[in-house]
This record gives sequence, C-alpha cells and structure tokens, in this order.
Amino acid sequence: MTGNIIAETQQTLLVVPMVSDAKLIREYYLNNKSHLSNWEPIRESSYYDVKTWEEFIRENERAFETGSSVKLVAMNKERTEVIGVCNFSNIIRGVFQACNLGYSIDQQYQGQGLMYEILDAAIKYIFLDIGLHRIMANYMPENKRSEALLERLGFEREGVAKSYLKINGKWRDHILTSKVNLKD
Ligand SMILES: CC(C)(COP(=O)(O)OP(=O)(O)OC[C@H]1O[C@@H](n2cnc3c(N)ncnc32)[C@H](O)[C@@H]1OP(=O)(O)O)[C@@H](O)C(=O)NCCC(=O)NCCS
Repeated sequence: MTGNIIAETQQTLLVVPMVSDAKLIREYYLNNKSHLSNWEPIRESSYYDVKTWEEFIRENERAFETGSSVKLVAMNKERTEVIGVCNFSNIIRGVFQACNLGYSIDQQYQGQGLMYEILDAAIKYIFLDIGLHRIMANYMPENKRSEALLERLGFEREGVAKSYLKINGKWRDHILTSKVNLKD
C-alpha cells in the first residue's frame, strides 16, 4: 500500500489520517454527535473544532511512528467522506504484545456490514504487519450491536469489569473480550 493507506477494503480506504483530513473527521464527529453520545465520553465543545483535529492528527502521526497506537480512519474511495474509525491504542510490547480497540461507524452506514469489513481488514493489519498478539475490546452490556460485531469478528468474552469507563458522564460496567492471534 502507498502513502498513508493501510488497506483497501471492498468499499473503503483505511488510512492513517493526514492533517488535510481534519475537516472531514470533525464533520464525522459533528454529524454523529447524538449517535455516539451514549457510547463515548462527554466531549468538550472544542472537540468539534478543525484546529483540535489538526492537533489530534499530528499527535496520532507521532504515536503511529513511535508505535504507541494505530488510529485509523475508513474513508470512501474518493476520500471525500469518513465512514468510520478504529483506534488500536495502549500498545504494549514485551511479553504482552497487546492493545485496546475502539470503533464507531457513521449512523447512515450502520447495519450494512461495513464496520465488520473495516475491522476485519484492520485486525489483519494489526496482527500481520504490526505483529501484536492480543486485541482487547470492551463494551457495555446494552450495546448489542457492538456485542454482535465482536462475536462475528471472533472476539471471545473474558469477564466483566465493574465501573470500568466513564461513558457519557457515568462510570459504567463493561464486558471484556479479546481476540488472540494464535498463528504467531
Ligand atoms: C457498534 C457499531 C460500530 C456496530 O456497527 P454495525 O453497522 O452494526 O456493524 P456491522 O458492520 O457488523 O453490521 C452488522 C449489520 O450489517 C448486516 N450485514 C449486511 N451485510 C453484511 C455482511 N456482508 N457482513 C456482516 N454483516 C452484514 C448484518 O445483518 C447486521 O445487521 P443487523 O444489525 O441489522 O442485523 C455501531 O453500532 C456504532 O457505531 N455504534 C456507536 C459507537 C459504538 O457503540 N462503538 C463501540 C463501543 S464498544
């Protein structure tokens, strides 16, 4: 793959975003504010500024270079629209070789198998190119879409963490799951 393109899926390009993508990413979060609000932390108003996203993207590029996270954006093939995002963060090497996964898809593309397509490609990249052994993904019990998606991707349930993340202003229990690369 060339430039910042990590993978091409049937309907998307999976990229490490460039500063010039800041406007499109900001639009994604602005358009999906209510769709995402139940599943994400409370965002300050500056979260929706282009300048904030330019800075996030610069940080993201540095983190990608140093290997501490791989935060990817799935765009349409024309690169005029963000379809979804997937973030592999807290990468730890040594005897662990693991990371945490977070993701979302634009409300208008929900329920079409696109998030599956994006994550399937991204997970292959994380296992085969980045060389990690374990990807951990956690969801709130009522997030049935997330549960179904993770199951379809081959994540296995490992337990429940009480009061795990502060989502939409409240500490919430989460189901813990992970997918392990058994081939390495
Ligand atoms: C969680 C979330 C990413 C799931 O997205 P999604 O679109 O439901 O996931 P998928 O891409 O796997 O799509 C599955 C749907 O596509 C359908 N589908 C169509 N073609 C398909 C294909 N080739 N492969 C798989 N599914 C397909 C499935 O039947 C399913 O539809 P259904 O839910 O109506 O039964 C999305 O709901 C979201 O962004 N939520 C808000 C943020 C969030 O919760 N993030 C996760 C926090 S843990």
